[in-house]
Amino acid sequence: MRTNPNIVITGTPGVGKTSHSTLLASSTGLKHLSINQIVKERGCHEGWSDEYQSWIVDEDKLLDEIEDEVKHGGCIIDWHACDLFPKSWVDLVVVLRTDSTILYDRLLERGYKEEKLQENLDSEIMQVLLEEARESYDEEIVVELRSDTTEDIEGNVERMERWVESWKEEISGYNG
Ligand SMILES: Nc1ncnc2c1ncn2[C@@H]1O[C@H](COP(=O)(O)OP(=O)(O)O)[C@@H](O)[C@H]1O
Ligand SMILES: [Mg+2]
Repeated sequence: MRTNPNIVITGTPGVGKTSHSTLLASSTGLKHLSINQIVKERGCHEGWSDEYQSWIVDEDKLLDEIEDEVKHGGCIIDWHACDLFPKSWVDLVVVLRTDSTILYDRLLERGYKEEKLQENLDSEIMQVLLEEARESYDEEIVVELRSDTTEDIEGNVERMERWVESWKEEISGYNG
């Protein structure tokens, strides 16, 4: 049994997953698993897609790569998809949401080209990731949080810290 929870932080590119994950990792000691980085560095892909301007992820290889670490517990999984992670691995799913005009500016600043930018904006407006999370996990563990301002980040991270603490208290209660 895990003694530290696993948290998935997901949402459309640019919503603030990596910002939140980094802060939460440093305040809780949980481990930040940047799936972007793992895909790239450990070669969990079948090459680069020019059309999508991203790696074509080999999901089986990715899951094999992170399985031992995640099963051990205490991971913050940072990625713009969530339905591939087995339910048994995941204790909390945080879906970050951002106002579309704010997201537009962030993605523009990141250098996204018009088509990719529009695709991601549509995805945020249609709340694709929220639906994906709700379809893939029990509703009690899926939480939607705003990420428009830096105050939002602070508040969200504090809230997640408290959640981690109470999760651990509950687990230590079970274990006597
Ligand atoms: N809540 C927020 N308030 C202000 N700036 C934010 C917020 N969330 C993210 N940002 C900024 O937006 C950009 C993208 O954030 P990032 O954490 O890299 O998003 P993601 O990992 O979801 O793609 C960064 O420049 C970050 O500083
Ligand atoms: Mg990121």
